[in-house]
Amino acid sequence: MNICVIGVGYVGLVAGTCLAESGNDVSCADIDKKKIFNLKKGKIPIYEPGLEELVARNHKEGRLKFTTDLDHAIREAEIIFIAVGTPPAADGSADLSAVFAVAKKIGQNLNSYKIIVDKSTVPVGTGDRVEQIIKAESRAGNFDVVSNPEFMKEGAAIDDFMKPDRVVIGAGSDRAFEVMKLIYEPFVRNENPIIRMDRRSAEMTKYAANSMLATKISFINEMANICEQVGADIDAVRRGIGFDRRIGFQFLFPGVGYGGSCFPKDVDALVRTAVSNRYETRVLKAVTAVNRDQRLRMVSRIRSHYGKNLKGKLIAVWGLAFKPNTDDMREAPSIEIIEGILEMGGKVCAYDPVAMAQAKNIFKTGIKYGKNPYDAVAGASGLVIVTEWNEFRRPNFTRLRELLKEPVIFDGRNLYEPNLMKTLGFDYYSVGRSPIKSRG
Ligand SMILES: NC(=O)c1ccc[n+]([C@@H]2O[C@H](COP(=O)([O-])OP(=O)(O)OC[C@H]3O[C@@H](n4cnc5c(N)ncnc54)[C@H](O)[C@@H]3O)[C@@H](O)[C@H]2O)c1
Repeated sequence: MNICVIGVGYVGLVAGTCLAESGNDVSCADIDKKKIFNLKKGKIPIYEPGLEELVARNHKEGRLKFTTDLDHAIREAEIIFIAVGTPPAADGSADLSAVFAVAKKIGQNLNSYKIIVDKSTVPVGTGDRVEQIIKAESRAGNFDVVSNPEFMKEGAAIDDFMKPDRVVIGAGSDRAFEVMKLIYEPFVRNENPIIRMDRRSAEMTKYAANSMLATKISFINEMANICEQVGADIDAVRRGIGFDRRIGFQFLFPGVGYGGSCFPKDVDALVRTAVSNRYETRVLKAVTAVNRDQRLRMVSRIRSHYGKNLKGKLIAVWGLAFKPNTDDMREAPSIEIIEGILEMGGKVCAYDPVAMAQAKNIFKTGIKYGKNPYDAVAGASGLVIVTEWNEFRRPNFTRLRELLKEPVIFDGRNLYEPNLMKTLGFDYYSVGRSPIKSRG
């Protein structure tokens, strides 16, 4: 099929590439000239495991093209995926200007029957507005607007797209649904379902999924905070509840809170949708509040350890990306934690396997970067672990102890065993577990 994907970001590039990999002719269109120029040369704008090879192969074989000519790409396509950003507006609602701009372009170039697939995360009712805009702009041709929310995780996006747990399609028209089924059948050969529903329910499903996952994270963080107060161990509690099949282990890891380009903005946007439809969300407001505080708790922990003595001290930070296996730093907890250290007069040397280039766009002063994890801790008065990259899980503790001026670790991801840290002589702070004071 001839497919056009508009918006070549994390979602659009992965979706477009995977759709080309399954044999479709895909044109990826974006207004970002530099991005498209680089993609044509094989330069991938994001870090996503396995993506570079897949883009290169499909590009070489002619199934995957990149263009800034949206008009032409739309006219040539039978199916158009909208995958542009829907960032938060000032009031927390989703900024839909890019989606509507694309809808207008589609309307202006509607030369035959086309299926317009909304893959961006958009509030309930956006499909109706997209439909209205296209109708208002177009002179010929008919079309269907379908909602097809994306559930991929950055860091495992290709696998998620190629082997989705489920595909959600919100389609009123049978014709459009049958075509969508054809597109997705190669990806659900394991019998995972393609679930058809109405468009509004599909739009809502995406927000419900992200809100549920965010709720689980804030829930376990709240449990961890209570554990700290009452002298219980969140790891034991987590195991104690996780084996209950009604609860499970996924997304029940305490830490420094969720970040990224989806959970914070999507929970906020759903709160705004509810408010504008005269419903007061209580659970979701609490989820957001717990999450905000969770980052600040790490800063408070650092403050109470050093008191006023942090001024001028170097603190190492391991992990900048909002989660491992991505370079995405949107809403990353590392930002607030580093800002907190800098505000207290500390200096920072950070290390992240892939996100340092992104970090350099965010922090201009007060921070330097290590060549590797050990380089970052050399001469530091403490180490803060923010992202649970695999390479931080089993460091050489003897080397770490030697390199640190003061053997203090603030572990925002509970990577290490407190008893081991005590034996090794570290002061060790983690989340939801009693602090270890090895040095009296
Ligand atoms: N990142 C994720 O993991 C993820 C997962 C599921 C859903 N989503 C949703 O998918 C959507 C896209 O997210 P993303 O992370 O890929 O965003 P992104 O910011 O990485 O990419 C968006 C792209 O759209 C382009 N764009 C903006 N306006 C445009 C226009 N008028 N015409 C053409 N291109 C335009 C931008 O240049 C950019 O390349 C969002 O709604 C997001 O919530 C994201």
